[in-house]
Parts: sequence; C-alpha cells; structure tokens
Amino acid sequence: MLGTVKVPGDKSLAHRAVLFAALAEGESEIHDYPDSGVTRAMRGALSSLGVPSTLEGDVLRLKGNGFRPFPVSGAVAYCGNSATTIRLLAGALAGTGSVAVLDGSEGLRKRPMNRIIEPLRLMGADLEGTPGVAADGRHVLCAPIKFKGGTLKGIDYSLPVASAQVLSCLQLAALGASGESHFTVPGPVRDHTVRMLRAMGAFESLTPFDPLTLSRHVIPLTSSSPLKLLKWRLPGDISSAAFLLAAAAIVPGSRVTVKGVDVNPTRTGVLDVLSAMGAKVSVSEYREDMGEPVADVTLESASLKGVVIEGDLVVRSIDEIPALAAVAAFAEGETVVRDATELRYKETDRIAAVVTQFRALGADVREMPDGFVMRGGGLKGGLAKANGDHRLAMSLAVCALRAPVTVEGAEILDESFPSFVPTLRSLGV
Ligand code: S3P
Repeated sequence: MLGTVKVPGDKSLAHRAVLFAALAEGESEIHDYPDSGVTRAMRGALSSLGVPSTLEGDVLRLKGNGFRPFPVSGAVAYCGNSATTIRLLAGALAGTGSVAVLDGSEGLRKRPMNRIIEPLRLMGADLEGTPGVAADGRHVLCAPIKFKGGTLKGIDYSLPVASAQVLSCLQLAALGASGESHFTVPGPVRDHTVRMLRAMGAFESLTPFDPLTLSRHVIPLTSSSPLKLLKWRLPGDISSAAFLLAAAAIVPGSRVTVKGVDVNPTRTGVLDVLSAMGAKVSVSEYREDMGEPVADVTLESASLKGVVIEGDLVVRSIDEIPALAAVAAFAEGETVVRDATELRYKETDRIAAVVTQFRALGADVREMPDGFVMRGGGLKGGLAKANGDHRLAMSLAVCALRAPVTVEGAEILDESFPSFVPTLRSLGV
C-alpha cells in the first residue's frame, strides 16, 4: 500500500461541533463535516428538537438556539446507534432544562445509561431511564430516557469509569447549573469538550491543563457566558485513520501518509502501540487548530511483534483495539489486551466479538474478563461477521489483505467511514 490520503473529519469533534453550535448564538459553519450514520444521528436528533442544520458538500451550517431550552418541547429525539449523541445530548437537555425523550436503535437501547442518569439526577435533573439488560447481561438503566426539566446545581463527582461521553455530558449540564462543579476522572479521557468550549468562550476561568495528567485531577467549572458561534475546518479522524494504518502495518512494503489528523494526546494510543509493535510511525507538519493538535501521520511497514496494551494506553486507544487486533494477528508472538472491560459496553461486547470473529478466521485467541490474548503468526481466513459493529467490520476487512476473508454485514462500516473501501483502493489495494 502506497500513497497519501485524507480521512473524513473526526466524529468526536463533529458531534461536539454541531451540538455546541446549536447551543451557541449565531450561525456556525463547519467544514470537512463527516457525513456518516452516527453523525447523521446527532443532526437528526437536533433537528427533531427544533435546531436543523444543512449539509452542502462537506460544509455544515446551523443557526444556534443559544443555551436555553430547545425550541420543540416534548419531542422524541432519535439517536440511532450513536452513544456519543445520546450521552452528550442528555447533558445539553439537562443543562438547558429542556423537556424531551432520547431514544435510539435496538443496539443503543442495550447500552448502559445509568452512568449519566445517576449523576444528572444528583445535579437536580428530573429524568427517567428505562430498565434494560446490557450486552453482558447486567441489569442497567437504558434508553429511552425522559427529560422533564429541573433546576441544576453544581456537583463534586468522581466518575467510576474513564468515559469522555459521561464527562462531556456532565460538563454540558454544569454549564447550566448554579455554582461550581468538580469532576474527577480515573483515566486520560479525550478532552475535546473542554478544548472546544474554551475556544467558544466558555470556561474562561479554567486554567490550561495537560490532558494526560488532568484525568486524575479535579476540573472546576462554573456556569459560563453565552457560547460564541463556531467557524472551523474539522481535522481528520484518527479512529478512521487507524484502520488504514493497521492495513499498511500488515501489508509488507507499505508506506502510507494520512494528512491533517487530530493528534490530541488522549487519542494517539494507537500510534504508540503500532510503534511498539515495530511499525515505523512518524508525525509531521504539527500544528494547532481551535485548541486541537493536528498533524500528518506516516506509517511504514516493518516486522511486527506482540505487545501488552494495558492501563492508560487502553483509554487512549479504546476505539482502536479492533484495528490493533488485526495487526496483532499478523505479528510475531503474543499481544495482550487487559484493563479493557469498557470494551464490553461498546457497539457490541467488543471483547467477545473480537475473540469469536478472529477465532472464526483461525486466530489463536483467548478471552479474559478484561481483554484478550492473541498469539500472532497469521490467519487461515474464512467467514466472519461484523455483528452490527462498524469497527469490527473494518478490522475484519483489514485481515482480508493477508488472508481470504469474507465479512458478513460489512455495510455497517457506513456508520463511521463510508469511504473506507475507496480509500483503501486509492492506496493500491
Ligand atoms: C467518545 C468517547 C468514547 C469513544 C466513543 C466516542 C466521545 O466513549 O469510545 O467512540 O466522542 O466522547 P466513552 O467515553 O464511553 O469511553
């Protein structure tokens, strides 16, 4: 695989950009907006709540409603398969005292929502979840979630899981609360929310922080001045780039550059792991845009060895573990993923799904409660299932570059990276 490509705009940034623009005053314009299943979910939900947006080519325009209750009261906003949409929107609904119901696909209805419902209630939000069963069989509160308003006050809260979705939800609620909020996070979660809101004029009193150490510290927030509109070109999504880099890592003789990728240090665990496995990774043209670090990333293939992925490195590569599993399958020796129980609460139970589907392709892989152990050395190939998970679909497709693999249900990759196959083709696949 040889060449230089761009990937679609970052989804975490896109979700936040359109939501925060809806909460700002004035007309925002966001360039390189990625159009995929999950980003359509956020736009669709905002539209049901009375804040529509237009997308012409890749330019999104939206007239903000300001940080006040959403214009349509009592709407049912459908969040599709997007957990970032439902969890961030929940914070915005609570913070603005809006009345609405958030719901989603069957898959989304299985994802745990107590992690946001409980702290939002502690802040004074009047809301109701639906008893449900998570993918791992636990009884939890799920969507649909009914928001009935409520007046919020700041809280001092330690997040039990290192989740950026939960932290962002609570940060948005804190914007509409009286008094200060203090949040403590048990790991280096992505900090896009604070970076973007600061660039929009909120949290001005917050002193700059190092995202990799911030996680164990307290983030004091006070309710803020109105949010300023957003004019921005989104950087590329490292979570999409990861699949191209993983592909280049396992195809001998490859040299691939992905231009203009967001390299926020809370997201670059995948680059650290690929380097540790032996691939030659370099980052160039480093710059900052709206508080986000952006760079071109190049990977050259080399011989690969197994590694241990654990602790903070798991948090910093949480969405990229499926891509790394494909690399591990073709490396020499064992790759161990541990401390990764959170993977069980993603689009699917990603530990069980990776183990089952890679085993179907002939991998020597063992499931553990908090991860898996994969012995590399290649795959014989076969038929594997995407299980309704866009990242698993791309991971299995990457394996097809080295073994005869058919991926059933691969169209789910449109949820996040619709141009994945044409981009691979443009690199010579
Ligand atoms: C995201 C945070 C992560 C990640 C998800 C996007 C975000 O989830 O897995 O794809 O944009 O905040 P958690 O915060 O639940 O770990």
